Amino acid sequence: MEFDETMGLKNAQKKDVDLLGSEELRDPSITASKLLGQERAYFYDKFDPPFFILSRYEDVNGALLDAETYVEGFGNGPNFQPAQGILSDAPHHTFTRGLIQRDFLVKQISDLQPRLEEIVQELLDGVASKKIWDLHDELSFPLPVIIICEILGIPTDDIKKFKRWADASVANMCAEDPSEYADELAEMGAYILEQIHLKRKAGKSSDLLSVMALAKEDGEYMSDDELVSFAGQIFVAGNETTTSLISNLVWRLLTIGDLWNEFCRDEIDVDDAINESLRFDPPLLGLFKTTSRDVEVDGVTIPSNTKVMMHYGAANRDPQAFSEPNTFKLKRSGKKMLSFSVGLHVCIGRELAKLEARVTLTALRKRYPKLRLVNEGERVGPFLFWGRSKLPVTHQ
Ligand code: HEM
Repeated sequence: MEFDETMGLKNAQKKDVDLLGSEELRDPSITASKLLGQERAYFYDKFDPPFFILSRYEDVNGALLDAETYVEGFGNGPNFQPAQGILSDAPHHTFTRGLIQRDFLVKQISDLQPRLEEIVQELLDGVASKKIWDLHDELSFPLPVIIICEILGIPTDDIKKFKRWADASVANMCAEDPSEYADELAEMGAYILEQIHLKRKAGKSSDLLSVMALAKEDGEYMSDDELVSFAGQIFVAGNETTTSLISNLVWRLLTIGDLWNEFCRDEIDVDDAINESLRFDPPLLGLFKTTSRDVEVDGVTIPSNTKVMMHYGAANRDPQAFSEPNTFKLKRSGKKMLSFSVGLHVCIGRELAKLEARVTLTALRKRYPKLRLVNEGERVGPFLFWGRSKLPVTHQ
């Protein structure tokens, strides 16, 4: 048989994707480049249940905008879950999102800036005399937890407990056997329920958990189960993700060229840095939707009722959408990264996440311009997430 160069090239690019393999876990840009050399709808059978992955920018963007075909109501992880809280479709999604929308408007979020600055200064005071400290444990993890608790109106007295629960929630979302995390999640559910009962007893108030606890849909309060899921979703959605945004960005600034010093000399716009970090290192590499009908993508049929991963990490590196996609470039024009999703379920906390990152980065460069990495730390565990669960630094 004659060797066809095009075929050779095509086959060379067609490398099997292994989302749980150590190489791709360590560097998800490898997954992105493999996916971008594969079929547009890639069948991934190394997970139970198997699923399809969309990776091209136009395909992911188009699917996210088509909420009738790609529905939310079976959860946004690879396993089929019952629709609850904000992880649902219209009309329940319209009701739940509408309830919390007000608290996440640009104005409401910008009013949080002084409080965020105060928390960040306290956290930075806490490490002032330490020779080596962990940027994840001491700064990027506690900040989002404290602010979400304050928005919800729940005490922040035991951050370590919240950490265990948040870890269990994200691990549960990515697990083949979710029953592994049942005890931690039951403990978190019981705690949230206790808080909900306290809110109902106290009566009307402006904190978010009170608003949720006292809201009526078609004249009825939401059930305890429903409220616990909904509040849990708000609590978890903004924590690990914002933590990773902050750690990933500091990590890249400290490791690529002279970026950290340029940033300290105010030669880099903090918002450019945040946007490029979100594109280059999405805290969520992808989330899932479920097909409501058979869909054809470039000759491949995705059957109805199948999980489909929207791979933001690959779409953000699609050369059809971004020039030099594998380079961390601070000035970019053109397409918007997809790390906050788009469409009906676009991240409601995106302004808050960006403000937290802006406040933290600005304070960090002012207080500790000599900041440097001790080593590259560790990757967070669950495969859908991308961040550092350890990032040891020094500023002396
Ligand atoms: C860098 C940080 C963040 C990233 C990368 C991120 C990413 C995302 C993504 C990709 C979605 C789409 C989910 C889907 O299509 O199923 C989403 C939804 C959501 N996010 Fe975020 N998020 C971040 C921060 C936050 C924060 C701070 C909050 C605050 C509570 C938050 C709350 C939510 C909620 C409630 C939803 C569900 C919206 C809906 O389904 O209507 N997120 N987020």
